[in-house]
Amino acid sequence: VVEHAMSAHFELVRGAAVVTTDPSALDLDVVHGWLSERSYWQRGVSREAVERAARHSLPFHLLVAGAQVGYARVVTDRTRFAYIADVFVLEAHRSSGLGAFLMQGVLAHPDVAGCRQVTLATEDAHGFYARFGFAAPTRPDRWMELRRP
Ligand SMILES: CC(C)(COP(=O)(O)OP(=O)(O)OC[C@H]1O[C@@H](n2cnc3c(N)ncnc32)[C@H](O)[C@@H]1OP(=O)(O)O)[C@@H](O)C(=O)NCCC(=O)NCCS
Repeated sequence: VVEHAMSAHFELVRGAAVVTTDPSALDLDVVHGWLSERSYWQRGVSREAVERAARHSLPFHLLVAGAQVGYARVVTDRTRFAYIADVFVLEAHRSSGLGAFLMQGVLAHPDVAGCRQVTLATEDAHGFYARFGFAAPTRPDRWMELRRP
């Protein structure tokens, strides 16, 4: 594992796999394609919306041999709050530790590691996130949301 702390972008390397925040690594065809066609939470999302959300978030690109195979983005003030969204690994690349490697990169980023409130929402991947310390909110009565379907 190599961390390039001096480079402008965060990067974590493991063999042929890389997690990077370099915006030039974004393959919008892959990320928009998967989110719009395969995800349960952003089905039908426009290319413009995916690009805009990436631009205003801290996006993490998972590459294998230079090709994007996974993605996650963090909505954050880089101080206290971080919300992790749009996490995926392409089907063909699953079950070999790449999702965990992606999450390891996200949580190791200095601007995320310093946040004391890191949240996410998931329909069925609780077991996956539990490995990184995520659990149901301890005080759900304090949380509110405004839903706009
Ligand atoms: C969740 C996801 C990113 C994991 O990627 P991955 O590369 O397969 O992850 P890893 O290889 O590091 O770990 C796989 C393990 O995570 C756990 N896991 C993966 N998905 C899970 C889920 N939905 N529920 C519970 N555990 C899950 C399993 O233990 C799995 O082991 P297995 O492959 O032997 O079954 C990937 O399955 C994915 O993209 N899923 C669809 C999108 C999604 O649900 N994203 C999260 C939305 S909040």
